[in-house]
Amino acid sequence: MLHKLHRISALLIGVFVLFHLINHMFILGGVAQHINFMNSFRVIYRNILMESVLLTCVIFQVSSGIYFVWKRRGQREDFIDKAQAISGLYLAFFFLNHVGTVLFGRLFTDLDTNIYYGIAGFHVTPFQLYFVPYYFFAVVAIFIHIAAAFNWLTRKKITEILRKRLAYSIVAIGAIISMLLMLGFSGTFNEVIIPSEYRATYQ
Ligand code: HEM
Repeated sequence: MLHKLHRISALLIGVFVLFHLINHMFILGGVAQHINFMNSFRVIYRNILMESVLLTCVIFQVSSGIYFVWKRRGQREDFIDKAQAISGLYLAFFFLNHVGTVLFGRLFTDLDTNIYYGIAGFHVTPFQLYFVPYYFFAVVAIFIHIAAAFNWLTRKKITEILRKRLAYSIVAIGAIISMLLMLGFSGTFNEVIIPSEYRATYQ
């Protein structure tokens, strides 16, 4: 039952995260495009109903995920199985930090929690040393989780060699997407100028 709820909750969070990552890909076209997409996307998720569902799912996902890792401690032998647990723990850490920071920004600052708020740390030395790996591994962890789920769901349908190859390909695609995002946020493709009020939060 708990596993089933974990999967349903993962699906709901997954839909949000899919569009959230598509939103972030707009950084490749510049900050203005990113902000425009977020403004439209916010019409869907920035309301009491959607946010309550999303935040409840996040809390449930983190708690049930940590419980699963604890319950199966020492029993995971397969590499993908272990990677699933490690990426899950990282996602739990990331979710609590990331959502906590967004909620803090919305409740206790006058800032719009748009992309400037999310990536100001990329542009204030030495905070990029923390934020680049922090976000890079979050995106990769999502793809590791998808690969592990794929590996499990197809276990009776395709050969083990093909299953593993496809699972590793999913992770490789995730790593490439994540790298493109980090380069985009750092201003490699288009100039990113962080407004002073956002930079000030790091000074
Ligand atoms: C790739 C780097 C990422 C950046 C720069 C980023 C940035 C942001 C920003 C700026 C917001 C606030 C949105 C708003 O105010 O409307 C936000 C919200 C959020 N992000 Fe991310 N995000 C990233 C990756 C992720 C990942 C990988 C996940 C999932 C594991 C995630 C999950 C969330 C969630 C659940 C919210 C809260 C939505 C809400 O209720 O307002 N983010 N993110």
